[in-house]
Amino acid sequence: MDTIDQYAVFGDPIGHSKSPKIHSLFAQQTEQRLNYTAQRVPLAEFESCARQFFEQGGLGLNCTVPLKEVAWQFADQLSERARLSKAVNTLKKLPDGRIFGDNTDGVGLIRDLTLNHALTLHHKSILVLGAGGATRGIIGPILEQAPQRLVIANRSIDKALRLSDEFSHDQLSACGFEELSGQCFDLIFNATSASLSGDLPDLPEQLLAEQGSCYDLAYANTATTFVVWGNQQHALLSLDGVGMLVEQAAEAFYLWRGIRPETQPVIAWLNSQRG
Ligand code: ATR
Repeated sequence: MDTIDQYAVFGDPIGHSKSPKIHSLFAQQTEQRLNYTAQRVPLAEFESCARQFFEQGGLGLNCTVPLKEVAWQFADQLSERARLSKAVNTLKKLPDGRIFGDNTDGVGLIRDLTLNHALTLHHKSILVLGAGGATRGIIGPILEQAPQRLVIANRSIDKALRLSDEFSHDQLSACGFEELSGQCFDLIFNATSASLSGDLPDLPEQLLAEQGSCYDLAYANTATTFVVWGNQQHALLSLDGVGMLVEQAAEAFYLWRGIRPETQPVIAWLNSQRG
């Protein structure tokens, strides 16, 4: 029987996921024959659903909120970047049946910044707002770019301090939002989940250096609250996470199919859909 290779994204909620469209555009472009679906999977059902998916011949899964930590536990083998981040967004069935877990979020972010927007992180003073799963996935890849310093600021300071201790690096430190007063950064990332619900941490004036840029890891059809804030601060670039979304997907596609799709046309298509 002629079967088609099966891939899927699991998450909860999953209704607005762009991943099926992104992967079908990649498949068209690279002439790969595959099927990619989105499935709502609550946290408690992840293990049984993932097991069933792979037993029925599924080759690869993407996992999104709130499943990245359980996907990390589910994997039989981990990439180094997934091991460090303690979160997995991509699972792949290996030829021997074991499940390999990777985290392509961080590399997706770095590729978007450096290749699509010509921004460098080397020697830059960098701030990440938030200390949850999204932050966990990007700390390692940012530190690999050798910034001058990387500060994690969070509403609950203990969470930021724990992350900083865990990654333990000379250039890395943590603080609460109040301690940001009087500090200045070349690049500010929003990795809190606040922006999508229209919230923003209370940030001091002059936090962004002249010619500095802002990047919201979140992505929406209209400008997120953080993107708007970045523009108000006269950021050189105030970007949302559409490029990161497509780049992390391309990295997963590459892991599964061994072929790297072009991301620019897919980013352009997604941007054209937002009006
Ligand atoms: P994710 O996986 O998207 O990172 P998460 O692990 O639940 O989600 O983390 C959400 C992050 O957004 C946390 O850093 C959270 O701050 P706390 O650790 O203090 O809870 C942050 N966050 C959510 N809503 C926020 C708000 N209104 N203001 C500031 N930070 C907020």
